Amino acid sequence: MVQSRQCIECVKEQMPNFNIKAPEYDSVSEPQAELARGLFDLSLDYLPDTPPVLLDVGCGTGHLTLDLATLFPKCLDCLDISNEMLKICKGKLRDFSNIKWRLFENDAENFEPDTKYDVIYCSAVIQWFANLPKFSARVKKWLKPNGILCIGALGEKTLCELRDAYYKATGRELETMAKFFSLSKLTDIFKKAGFELQDTAECIYTQGFESPIIALKTLGKMGVSGAGKKPLNRTEVQRLKEILLKTKTKNAAVNFSWELIAMVFKGNAL
Ligand SMILES: C[S@@+](CC[C@H](N)C(=O)[O-])C[C@H]1O[C@@H](n2cnc3c(N)ncnc32)[C@H](O)[C@@H]1O
Repeated sequence: MVQSRQCIECVKEQMPNFNIKAPEYDSVSEPQAELARGLFDLSLDYLPDTPPVLLDVGCGTGHLTLDLATLFPKCLDCLDISNEMLKICKGKLRDFSNIKWRLFENDAENFEPDTKYDVIYCSAVIQWFANLPKFSARVKKWLKPNGILCIGALGEKTLCELRDAYYKATGRELETMAKFFSLSKLTDIFKKAGFELQDTAECIYTQGFESPIIALKTLGKMGVSGAGKKPLNRTEVQRLKEILLKTKTKNAAVNFSWELIAMVFKGNAL
């Protein structure tokens, strides 16, 4: 694995520590797994006829990586800033001894690949980037001419119930470390970097929980937690719980929406 310790540590201050989140990530990340499946399916029509050289940016524990391994790529490179996430991904990739795969522990916003890719995937990761326009310009240079970029993103409607409840309970806007984008904003950013949009798919995924506390703890375990400086007082917490219970359905006490956006772009001929 390629290491760039100083740079990795400095980026980690702007996002949750995924080394701590790693052991429980698979058990709480249904929305991210659903996004990865949707992105994989959408990308299938755009793969080259020959075994592709693939990169999975922010591979995490491998929700998408394992699907990519079934494509029998010429090479599958997996990049993540978290060593613990990569360890879990590596354990799963051991079942794929028939393909060539490599792991890179590095910051995607500073990574310098040693090869060019036919297809680059990046699912449920860009919400953590400090500078998405800069990343989109960089990643274009990692593709072969006419290479494909597949982006899985969380849209602006993500966690709208929590945002609404938080505002009603506290009178303050909810600040999260994660950044959520609209489809048109994302299209704009990648177009400016020289990509052509080929295809998109969008859906709202509903995640249900047994109680408000379990709902909030689950978000924390997947790394989506509040970034506000002012902690909630007891009255605000109580009010927040009561308002969240208004999202109740017959299947779950609390429901959160996740806007899942899958996008396929083509990098222009160089
Ligand atoms: C929500 S998880 C998604 C993982 C996986 N792609 C999936 O679909 O489940 C986000 C992952 O992105 C990684 N990540 C966040 N910022 C990164 C960066 N700047 N460079 C590389 N990886 C990053 C985290 O370590 C984490 O494993």
